[in-house]
Amino acid sequence: MVLEAVAVAFWTMLPAYVPNNAAVLAGGGRPIDGGRTLGGNRILGDGKTWRGTFVGTAAGALVGLALNAVRPGVPAASGFPLPAFPPLVLLSLPAGAMLGDITASFLKRRTGRERGAAFSGVDQLDFVAGALVLTLLVRPGWFLETFTPAVLVTVLVLTPLLHAGTNAGAYLLGLKDEPY
Ligand code: CTP
Ligand code: MG
Repeated sequence: MVLEAVAVAFWTMLPAYVPNNAAVLAGGGRPIDGGRTLGGNRILGDGKTWRGTFVGTAAGALVGLALNAVRPGVPAASGFPLPAFPPLVLLSLPAGAMLGDITASFLKRRTGRERGAAFSGVDQLDFVAGALVLTLLVRPGWFLETFTPAVLVTVLVLTPLLHAGTNAGAYLLGLKDEPY
């Protein structure tokens, strides 16, 4: 039961987990806000770039496509109700994750937090909130079928743990400046 919820939560959110990590690897180039400020602080900051956003979204969509492709094999045989991703969801999960992360940077700058500053709670769940909300908007039926209360609770518990793990890893590898 718990194992099933973890398996479904991880499988379903993988296209939303990959974009942030891909953006770290791909980041650089023109910032989305073009250097503009609002009330004395950058609108988003240099940590949100067009390249990072597009590569991150594309990486998440490709992961979803790959999951769809392998699903009839071992994943289906596992007996877990691992969903297939409809075309729009292949985009809404990763694009929503990137939008959530961008929204968090907007809020960080409005609250005087410099690029890279921690924003506890928001850092861990911004991309999940973005991915879930956008997916609910574009495919409500699929969303309600897939994210049962048990899966939803598991996502909210599992994500901060995975986030802490991957960010600590990226920091130790020298890919990220802060371990969060
Ligand atoms: N990145 C990017 N575009 C995005 C998201 C991330 O280019 N939409 C890249 C940037 O190089 C960024 C790195 O990934 O520095 C790490 O992402 P994140 O921790 O979200 O950004 P921060 O630099 O910490 O900036 P912020 O304080 O705004 O979160
Ligand atoms: Mg950061």
